[in-house]
Amino acid sequence: MDVGAALAPLYDPLMRIVGWTRTQRGVLTGADGSILDVGCGPARLANGSHEHYVGVDRRMAMLSQGPGGTTLVCADAAALPFGDGTFDTVVSTALLGLCLPAERRPILREMARVCRGTLRILEPIAPLDPVRRAVALSRQPVRLEELRTAGWHVTCVGQDNFAGVYTLVCATPTVRPASNP
Ligand SMILES: C[S@@+](CC[C@H](N)C(=O)[O-])C[C@H]1O[C@@H](n2cnc3c(N)ncnc32)[C@H](O)[C@@H]1O
Repeated sequence: MDVGAALAPLYDPLMRIVGWTRTQRGVLTGADGSILDVGCGPARLANGSHEHYVGVDRRMAMLSQGPGGTTLVCADAAALPFGDGTFDTVVSTALLGLCLPAERRPILREMARVCRGTLRILEPIAPLDPVRRAVALSRQPVRLEELRTAGWHVTCVGQDNFAGVYTLVCATPTVRPASNP
C-alpha cells in the first residue's frame, strides 16, 4: 500500500494548519517566466501565481488534490517529460530533503536539463542538527556540493525558514541549453 497516496487528501489541510503553505510561497519571490514545480504535491504554488505554471508529481493522488485549470503532470522527477531548457524557473519544495543523495542526483540533473533560468528550492540544507532533521523528516539534508556536481552554480543561500528547518537556495545551470535556431 502506498501510504503517501492514502494520506494525500490530508496533506493540504495539514500543511495549511502548520503554516507550511505560507512559508512555501516564499520560494516564488522573485521568480519569473514559466515555472516548473517538481514534486508539487497538491500544487499550492499554482494558486494565483504565475501564468505559465506546470506541476509535476509522481503521485496521481496528490495531483488530484490540485486546483482545476492548472497543468499538472504525473511523472517521476528523475525523468521529466520536457525538452531541454523548457522552463525559465524550476522550483521545488520539501522534495529533495526527503530523498537520499543517490535519488537526488538524477533529479537535480533533470532539473538542470529542463531549466534555462533559475532553480529555487526550499529544502533542509546540511549541516542541520538532529531535531531540525527530524522536523524535516530528512535522513540526509541536501549538501550544496550535490547541486554543484549535478550541474548547478549556487547563486544565493537565503535565510532559514519554518523554525530554521528549510533554506531557500537559488542556482543557475552551469551548461546552458543551445538556443533554438
Ligand atoms: C512532502 S511532499 C511536498 C509537496 C509540495 N512540494 C509542498 O511543498 O507541499 C513531497 C512530494 O514529492 C512527491 N515526490 C516524491 N518523490 C518524487 C519523485 N521521484 N518524482 C516526482 N514526485 C515525487 C511526492 O509524491 C509528494 O507529493
